[in-house]
Amino acid sequence: MFELTPSAVAASDRLRRFADEVRRDLSASPRQLQSKYLYDSLGSCLFEAICRLPWYKITRAETALLDREADAIVAAVGDPLTIIELGCGSGAKLVRLAEALQRAERSARVHLIDISTEALALSERTLGALEHVSVVGHRATYETGLRQAAAARRGGGPLLVLLLGSNIGNFDPPAAAGFLDQIRAALRPGDALLVGADLVKPEAELLVAYDDPLGVTAAFDKNLLARIDRELGGDFDLDRWDHRAVWNAEASRIEMHLVARGAQRVRIALAGLAIDFEDGETIWTESSYKYDLGQIARMGAAAGFEAEDQWVEPGARFSLTRFRAS
Ligand code: AVJ
Repeated sequence: MFELTPSAVAASDRLRRFADEVRRDLSASPRQLQSKYLYDSLGSCLFEAICRLPWYKITRAETALLDREADAIVAAVGDPLTIIELGCGSGAKLVRLAEALQRAERSARVHLIDISTEALALSERTLGALEHVSVVGHRATYETGLRQAAAARRGGGPLLVLLLGSNIGNFDPPAAAGFLDQIRAALRPGDALLVGADLVKPEAELLVAYDDPLGVTAAFDKNLLARIDRELGGDFDLDRWDHRAVWNAEASRIEMHLVARGAQRVRIALAGLAIDFEDGETIWTESSYKYDLGQIARMGAAAGFEAEDQWVEPGARFSLTRFRAS
C-alpha cells in the first residue's frame, strides 16, 4: 500500500524559493547552485541511469551489502517498526529490508522522504505491491520530512532511519554534523540509524565515477541549467557549458562544476538576473565527500550515536554503518 501526504508547500512557494536561492547562489563567490535542484523529473531519471553505469559503483555496492546484512539490520530493531528513508531514490534498497522483514514474518510502516516527485513515483512502483509494509511518501526536504515522519512513530515501537547512497556526502562537514544532530533529536535511545557512505579511493576511480565516458553525469549536471531555463525563464545556452569533476584532496570531496565555454551573458527572468560569465568561469553544483571508517563512526558519536556494526564492500570501497541512538 502506498499513499502520498499532501504537500505542505505550494508549487508557487517552491518556485519562488528556487528563484531566490538561484539569485543568491549565482551572485555568490564562487558562483554555485545547490545540488538538491539537480533532481527535477529528468534529473531523477538521469541519476537512476548513473546508478547503472559501470563507473558509478555506489548503488550496486550498497545493494550488495544490504542483501548480505538485511537480516542483521532488521533483527537489531524491534516491533512495531517504523522505517524512515531520507532520499529514497527508486525505493530498490528498501526492497532488501522488506524481504528480510518478510523472512522474519514481520511488518513495518515506511516513510519515504524525497524532494523529487519522480523518485516517489518510482518508489511507489517498486514498493506499492508489498503486503507487509505500508508506505507513506512525503515530498519534502529531509528536515521537514523527518519531522513529519518521526511524529508518526507507531505505538511505542522503534524507529529505523535510513540515510543511504552516500547522500550524507552532499553536506559539508559542519552541515553533516548539524544534520546528524537533527536526526538524533528526532529519535529516542535505542532507535537505529543506518548510514551508507562512500570511502576515499584512488583519484582516477573517483573522477571516472563523476565524469563518465558516456556523458550521463555531464547531462545530469547540465540539466540543472536546462531546469533554470525551463522553470525560471533562463537563457543558458547548454552547448556553451561543459561538465567538470575535480577531486579536492584537502577537503576529501569530489566537486562537480559547470564551465563556461566562451564569454557569455545569461539572463534569468524570474530570478531578475543578468550575469556576464567570463570564458572558463565556473558554477559549483555539487560536493560529494568521501570518508574513512573512523571518521564516520566519530561523526555519529558526536551526534549521540554509537556505531554497532560497520560493513565494507571491498571492490567499490563503500561502507554501511549501523548506529544506535544512545
Ligand atoms: C546521490 C548525492 C549520493 O554524490 O554520488 C552522482 C549524486 N552526483 N553522480 C553522489 C551524484 C554525480 C550522488 N548522491
